[in-house]
Amino acid sequence: MSDTIDSTSGAIDSILVEKRVFDPVPEVVKGAAISGMQAYQALADEARSDPEGFWARMAHEQLVWHKPFTRVLDESDAPFYRWFDDGELNVSENCLDVHLRNGNADKTAIIFEADDGAIQRVSFRELHARVCRIANALKSLGYGKGDRAILYMPMSIEAIASMQACARLGIVHSVVFGGFSTKSLHQRIVDVQADLVITADEQMRGGRAIPLKAAVDMALTEDGTDHVRHVVVYRRSGGEVAWNAGRDVWLHEITDGQSDQCEPVPVGAEHPLFILYTSGSTGKPKGVQHSSGGYLLWAKLTSQWVFDARPDDVFWCTADVGWVTGHTYITYGTMAAGLTQIVFEGIPTYPDSGRFWDMIQRHKVSIFYTAPTAIRSLIKAASTDPKVHPSNYDLGSLRILGSVGEPINPEAWVWYHQNVGGGRCPVIDTWWQTETGGHILTPLPGATPLKPGSCTLPLPGISVDVVDETGASLPDGRGGFLVITRPWPAMIRTVWGDPDRYVNSYFPPEMKGAYLAGDSAQRDEDGYYWIMGRTDDVLSVSGHRLGGTEIESTLVAHERVAEAAIVGRPDAVTGEAVVAFVVLKGDLPDEAQAPAVADELRRWVASEVGPIAKPREIWFGNAMPKTRSGKIMRRLLRIVAEGQEITQDTSTLENPDVLKQFKGAY
Ligand code: PRX
Repeated sequence: MSDTIDSTSGAIDSILVEKRVFDPVPEVVKGAAISGMQAYQALADEARSDPEGFWARMAHEQLVWHKPFTRVLDESDAPFYRWFDDGELNVSENCLDVHLRNGNADKTAIIFEADDGAIQRVSFRELHARVCRIANALKSLGYGKGDRAILYMPMSIEAIASMQACARLGIVHSVVFGGFSTKSLHQRIVDVQADLVITADEQMRGGRAIPLKAAVDMALTEDGTDHVRHVVVYRRSGGEVAWNAGRDVWLHEITDGQSDQCEPVPVGAEHPLFILYTSGSTGKPKGVQHSSGGYLLWAKLTSQWVFDARPDDVFWCTADVGWVTGHTYITYGTMAAGLTQIVFEGIPTYPDSGRFWDMIQRHKVSIFYTAPTAIRSLIKAASTDPKVHPSNYDLGSLRILGSVGEPINPEAWVWYHQNVGGGRCPVIDTWWQTETGGHILTPLPGATPLKPGSCTLPLPGISVDVVDETGASLPDGRGGFLVITRPWPAMIRTVWGDPDRYVNSYFPPEMKGAYLAGDSAQRDEDGYYWIMGRTDDVLSVSGHRLGGTEIESTLVAHERVAEAAIVGRPDAVTGEAVVAFVVLKGDLPDEAQAPAVADELRRWVASEVGPIAKPREIWFGNAMPKTRSGKIMRRLLRIVAEGQEITQDTSTLENPDVLKQFKGAY
């Protein structure tokens, strides 16, 4: 927790430029789950005055329990909080069976649209049957409660059904985003000590087939993977795959002939539902461990409150199930809320940048939830090619627009509101994290007056604050560290296999028991929160969290590299762009050699971490700017990357001239 509050405070001025407030739209308010600010206040007051009573009421009303809980929150081993811990339930039963019992069996659960436009619809009854068949197949291979499965899958009904099948049996899953490399996949297989891998032959994105099974095969030739007994393969493209008889099985073969009924296995509320890796401030990603009961409660409640879920809504979250957004607002929360959902395999720019608008029109989407990066890239596309402007499509079905993953700049917010939402749909800017499990700071569509660029207010039951480095609360208008001051049911339970890291990262002693989010924020005079950016070395590129340190250590592991530093440079489309400063072993490359060396390093990062981590620019130098104690001054490199003059004090640098040697980026 060092200097980064300073370095981000400039951002707030541009955010506050847009001061307009958008009041809730009357049609949206009518009948909303939480309708009007008084209803919001009443719920928030109930939660504040009697937290245990509030959470107990919600957990009883929202979830089906096999064994009712008698304890709401056990704080005796804080910060290792336990929620509803003597209760038992099954997550998959709460997402699927409940809809079969309440007369919604034939309601469409998923409308799947493939990359090439092919469409598949499944009802809750059919999805339930598919989940049961997969669960029975996994059971017959010998898997059950407490085993760990790695999923490395394309966006598909099969990916969601496999997650649900794991939940049905109490198998702990860890989904690895299909865009991650073999190395990252291997790291996660080893860290969770996976017993099982579920993958596909290939995934289709933008008309191209990208191998998945081949990456699994490679990962499993590496050390530490002996635990894995089976690789289950979903046949997506029919592309060639190598086969390891005895270990590899086809999903369609093992599910063939299985019963479409499978009793859900009751698990304790604290049983881990999943582990999801996210970048932290060291080279090693953190396995964020979530619970079953508390997580699902908050996933479902926020789906209902924040999206104001109604029976005839068509909900579309464009995230991949490899990220937390796809877990909470595709596979679990929104499914428990009984929403009809769009699941999309492809990318927003294929076959052209009108794909999202075309899909909203064809499927009559009413709630659309996407990332600012996607919005900004589609704004850009529409400005150069009027054919893909949203005005060419009938988007009249839309009711609510959501944004997630990074700050949405007011310009993009207003464009989204006007051009996509036709000025009548609230834009719900949801701030949360892999660790929070669900939304934390967000407007409610039927209640909260909106300010473009602000994620507004904490949800009922959530207490947040902005504090200084000693943990002391700061007055409104002062930037500081965002903390969550009370435990909430969907919070991270631990870092898988590394409880010390959990405590050190999220509950450092100076925060006096509050959860340290890792973001800087400020609160305005109306109590609205404005997120300013990360306070650690984590970058946000296209809404994806990348560890700067992880990319640095990858670069340093390359045989030509002596030292590397990664900084994020603001980017109009992707939020931040990865910029690398590199000192090579041996001589500085000349202008003729530099592009080839830069390409070689980019390919290396793509193969070691994943294509999303590839540096946009690489600057070569003879030495890094360092403090006298040997710490690389990334703050100064950030200024160099932005092409600006350094006007800050550089007297702490061991050698101030060192900054001049970085010339030109490749
Ligand atoms: O910096 C914040 C940013 O994304 C981080 C969490 O990333 P991740 O765990 O990958 O989860 C992304 C999806 C929830 C946060 O620490 N972030 C997320 N949402 C917003 C945001 N920054 C500003 N505004 C948001 N709405």
